[in-house]
Formats: sequence, structure tokens, C-alpha cells
Amino acid sequence: MHTPVLAAEAVAALAIRADGTYVDGTFGRGGHSRAILAQLGPSGRLIALDRDPQAAEAARAIPDPRFSFFRTRFSELERVMGGTKAQGMLFDLGVSSPQLDDPARGFSFRGDAPLDMRMDPTAGATAADWLAAAQEKEIREVIREYGEERFAKQIAAAIVAARGSQPIVRTRQLADLVAKAVRTREPGQDPATRTFQALRIHVNRELEEVSLMLPQAVSRLADGGRLALISFHSLEDRIVKRFMQSLARPEVPRGLPLRASQMPQPVLKLVGRAVRPSQEEIRSNPRARSATLRVAERTAAAYNPDNRIEPGARWRN
Ligand SMILES: C[S@@+](CC[C@H](N)C(=O)[O-])C[C@H]1O[C@@H](n2cnc3c(N)ncnc32)[C@H](O)[C@@H]1O
Repeated sequence: MHTPVLAAEAVAALAIRADGTYVDGTFGRGGHSRAILAQLGPSGRLIALDRDPQAAEAARAIPDPRFSFFRTRFSELERVMGGTKAQGMLFDLGVSSPQLDDPARGFSFRGDAPLDMRMDPTAGATAADWLAAAQEKEIREVIREYGEERFAKQIAAAIVAARGSQPIVRTRQLADLVAKAVRTREPGQDPATRTFQALRIHVNRELEEVSLMLPQAVSRLADGGRLALISFHSLEDRIVKRFMQSLARPEVPRGLPLRASQMPQPVLKLVGRAVRPSQEEIRSNPRARSATLRVAERTAAAYNPDNRIEPGARWRN
């Protein structure tokens, strides 16, 4: 079962109005969605998204006229919402426990399964497809950057050497290969943890998705609406933090003589500081360990969504 991380804090951060429209951009198994619905009155609305067919299946168990579900990537948010504005949006990024725990999905180095790792198994290349075709340098950079793995060079070399004799198509095959290439062990961590995390982030274009979604979320937030994001990786949190800060403290173009009325106005107001889980939550749910919640509120200032930040992906899938 998926226990949502920082659930109470994230839902409280939305400051839910009973008659408002809300977005749960990462439905998963619906823990956050159910908490939001519980606070909505009869005229409230909840729009949920997830790219995973199993999440779509779980969403069918909520036959509530106030609830609608879309199986799509959250980088399609503007298309899904059309002209609708929301009073709050929540994104609980990364993978869900059911995705990690189901060996058949290929996310886990425990057990043996096809090396897939796609959150949406109906689209895009699998981790095995990518490892078969990528250059050694790309593999090394993905593992180093997204996995923060010291032995990225050795692992990439081992992958390229191994695939010369046999395609790498099973999770066990990759985990064994990585275990041989990683020379020191981190306590309590499987040597393949970092490599699997890196491949998963890359295969699902996770950072690019977040970069594409953030401006769309702001453009569909009503004045005073709240945006809450929970990230699980330092690179992901950095994208969220920089984006929020750039709209909360817009830069004044240098050398331009601007009157006060012409100064760029903040489009977001930061709400509180970054929130991290308590020791108690981490003890009962180890997945919470790396979580950070950031919250911002939409002001009434005009937003020019053409000033978008560039998607973060540097390597082709
Ligand atoms: C951490 S889980 C969310 C759990 C959820 N809050 C709950 O209470 O069950 C993240 C979910 O987001 C989905 N997801 C991740 N990236 C996505 C994207 N770019 N577009 C749509 N869904 C995405 C995953 O498929 C996964 O189900």
C-alpha cells in the first residue's frame, strides 16, 4: 500500500475551500485525493492526473461526481484543464510504492523481472531499450547525475562491456553487474540503488516533466490559489525551488529606467519554508527520508507563461 508522505502537511497547505476546484497531479493510489475530497462540499471539484494505467484503475474506485481522472502526463496540464482555474494544486513527485514494490514493473533491483521502469508501460522506451542503444558517455552521465553515483564510470563501462555479449534485459542481470562494479558499500543500501534510481528518472523524463508542468500550473491557478509540491530528489527540489523563487522575486531588467508601476510584480508568494518530514514519519515510512514540501500562493499579478524555464533533460531517451 502507498502511504502518502507529508500528507497532512501537503493537504493543509492547500487551505481548501469547500466550493473550490483542486488538482491532484499525481494520483497514485489516491491517498491525497481522498483527503482533498473529504474537505470539499457538494459544489467542490477535484481533477486528478496520473500517467500510470494502474493508478487509472485505482481511480475507478472513486465514483464521486465531484471527481474526474485523466490518465496522462502532468506536462499536459493546460490541455486537460482547458480554461478552468484551480484554487489549489498538489504534486507528489516521483514513483509510488506500488510501482517500486511490484517486481513486474522492473523498477526494483530485488527479484528478477524485465528491465522496464516506465510509469506508463504503454509509451516510450524501456530502461532495457535505452541501455541497448545509448553511448557509454550518456550512460555514465545519467548514472552520475541522477544517481549521484561515485562509480558511474565503472558501471557504464561494465554495462557496455556486458551488452557486447548479451543484451541487458532483466533487473537481476543489471543489479549483479552493478554490484560487481561498485567497490564500496553504503550501509543499509543495495549497491544498485543509485543506478536504478538514475535510470528510472531518465526513462520517465522526470525532471523534464516537472520543468514543463510548473509554468502550466501557475497559469491555471486562480488568484490566491495554492501550489504544493513534494519532491524526493535534490535535482527535482532544486527545479521547484528556483522556479518558485524566480516568480516570487522577479529580476528587474538591468539598466532599464522603470517607474514603480512598471516594475515586474511577483506572480507567486512563498508560503513558509521548505517542510521536511519528522523523524517519526521517517521511522514509520523510510520513503519519506528525502522528501521536501514547498508551497507558494498565486498573486493577482499577470503571468507571462512565455517566460518558461527550459526543460531539464540533457540526454536523449
Ligand atoms: C509518489 S506517487 C503519488 C502518490 C499519491 N499522492 C497517493 O496518495 O497515492 C507519484 C505518482 O505520480 C505519477 N507520476 C509521476 N510522474 C508523472 C507525470 N509526469 N505525469 C503523470 N503522473 C506522474 C506516478 O505514476 C505515481 O503514481
